[in-house]
Amino acid sequence: MTQKVLITSALPYANGPLHFGHIAGAYLPADCYARFERLRKNEVLYICGSDEYGIAITMSADLAGRTPKQHVDIFHEINQKFFERLNISFDHYSRTSSPKHIAPVQQYFLDLVQNGFIEERITNQLYSEADKRFLADRYVTGTCPKCGYENARGDECPHCGASYEATDLKNPRSKLTNAPLVLKPTKHWFILLDKFKERLTKWTQEKNWKANVINFIKGYIDDLHPRSITRDSNWGVPVPLPNSEGKVLYVWFDAPIGYISASQEWAAKIGKPEHWKDFWCDPSTKLVQFIGKDNIPFHAVIFPAMTMGQNQPYKLVDELPANEFYKLEGRQFSKSDGWYIDLEDFFTKYTTDQIRYAIAANAPETNDSEFTWKDFQLRCNTDLLGKFGNLINRTLVFAQNHCGGKVPPRGELKPIDREFLDQIQKLTQEAYQAYAEFKLRRASQLLMELAQLGNVYFDTKKPWADAKNPATLPLMQSTISCCLECLKTLALVAYPIIPSTAIEVWTMLGQKESLESLGWEKVAQLTIADGASLPPPAILFKKIEDEQIKMEIAKLHEKAHEAAPKNDTAKHEPLKELVDIEAVKKLDLRVGIILKAEPVPKSKKLLKLEVDLGFEKRTIVAGIALSYKPEQLIGKKVVVVANLKPATLMGVESQGMLLAGNLNHQTELAHIQELPPGSVVS
Ligand code: 2FM
Ligand code: ZN
Repeated sequence: MTQKVLITSALPYANGPLHFGHIAGAYLPADCYARFERLRKNEVLYICGSDEYGIAITMSADLAGRTPKQHVDIFHEINQKFFERLNISFDHYSRTSSPKHIAPVQQYFLDLVQNGFIEERITNQLYSEADKRFLADRYVTGTCPKCGYENARGDECPHCGASYEATDLKNPRSKLTNAPLVLKPTKHWFILLDKFKERLTKWTQEKNWKANVINFIKGYIDDLHPRSITRDSNWGVPVPLPNSEGKVLYVWFDAPIGYISASQEWAAKIGKPEHWKDFWCDPSTKLVQFIGKDNIPFHAVIFPAMTMGQNQPYKLVDELPANEFYKLEGRQFSKSDGWYIDLEDFFTKYTTDQIRYAIAANAPETNDSEFTWKDFQLRCNTDLLGKFGNLINRTLVFAQNHCGGKVPPRGELKPIDREFLDQIQKLTQEAYQAYAEFKLRRASQLLMELAQLGNVYFDTKKPWADAKNPATLPLMQSTISCCLECLKTLALVAYPIIPSTAIEVWTMLGQKESLESLGWEKVAQLTIADGASLPPPAILFKKIEDEQIKMEIAKLHEKAHEAAPKNDTAKHEPLKELVDIEAVKKLDLRVGIILKAEPVPKSKKLLKLEVDLGFEKRTIVAGIALSYKPEQLIGKKVVVVANLKPATLMGVESQGMLLAGNLNHQTELAHIQELPPGSVVS
């Protein structure tokens, strides 16, 4: 029986161009899954669109000298084209600034009001008399209420790591105009999330999601409190209540409803305006939402709570594949830092399926992972060309030369042939399972195991030797027939990840009916008919030379170098006054090894570390969370100021300090390679 499967990918902000880092998290895995579900003959609706409201967008638009509308129009188009280029098979790609988005969002809000889940409150917000407007945190700077640092951000101090409300800043100013800000009362609407605590707890208990998602949700639900869901702005969905001029709904309130409004738009587009309800309002639909890990709270808690408060029986998410981050050669992709891949250039040299495979094979499913040019070369040359392409090419070329370009008869199979066919079936079944469980890395691996199985079989069976002797010709024909069976299966298993290549292989097998229309089961079962003509094969992948990769790496570093602030413009701290050697000798610096690392709750900058000094263990709180993930630190040998008086940071006593280099907000720990913990550093 077919099942309805509703798949969403997080709506990307139309606030800048997307890159492969984004693709690895919420888009390629979702597309592979959608393609797999369609092959399974399930009824799929795959939805996405641009997320176009919010302060981040108005701010970037301001800085770029554009209106928000002009700004999102530019990036909506760029990003939509990028998805097309990557062959992402959305059934509909919408945008939240679409007029069709307004009514469903307002209705969501009104249902929550009607059901007693929204409360109006008066709060004090920062207001610019000069600009005649309230300013959101991101637009605000001022003096840190904790340490007195003068250029603290609206929500966090880059100097001492403290988090606070923008209204706590001393001497608050507008980031844009430097105008002073005053506190002024304003009306906002709060969603009473705490009222959903019990239902959310019960609902999440039934979920069999990844441990990191579940743990995160539990902590989040424990701490649920009312949250403001409106903003003072004119860019967003207006609050649908009287006396609410200048108030819009918060971007994270309207964006997830974009999944529904985009589905409605899709239904209208295909001429069945009510069809979206068959997906969204039918409990038997499976709703699968692909996101990056930073989007967990809104998809696992807040949007479900908003949905629980509706009068319509909307689906709650069933599966939430939340992926980790995907970096570029060890660092976050960043256009402004020059740490990115020029996509125009990329696509002139490489193909969509090469990048799709490279990302899938190394998808950030359980840990952060990264694109490296070396890995890309390896995946393309060793896997796609050396294993997959090689088997396809050698089989088809052989069939042209020795079987008259036709599928040879299978004849009588020997145990080795039967074993080969059984193995093919087993791997196909495993790949099916991997796709069903969102394990893209595993599916890529199985694809290559399948190709290698075929290559080993081809080598072992030596069809070229059997072709020489009329008496052994039937053996050669059995071998090629079984290899063609393997090729057929490769096309099937490859399709979700590298669809264009899979279709090419399918065509090279002389198949008339398309792979997609036949579907997984039929393709897995069919035997390619004896005597069918095989068109001349084409080369599927080109080798990527070492020279080319060296050039790409050099180009990346060159771009980063050009974008880096030059020494004369870098903000170097002024030198401190001279001290004598005795002052330096007073410091007791020791080698320590980091045993444990975890974030300090409610702080974006601080990590709590357990450091072994050889003779004792210390708890040290370090402001390095923006530069290091906890798991990167375990086992690192660092330099500890061991005789620093203990100090309490965000409620945790720190018994020492780590030495680190700092420039322009970049932090790198000083580390020791050989000496054991406890060694004196002087
Ligand atoms: O993090 C982001 O890119 C958000 N624009 C995701 C929104 S997902 C959904 F809720 F729309
Ligand atoms: Zn501070």
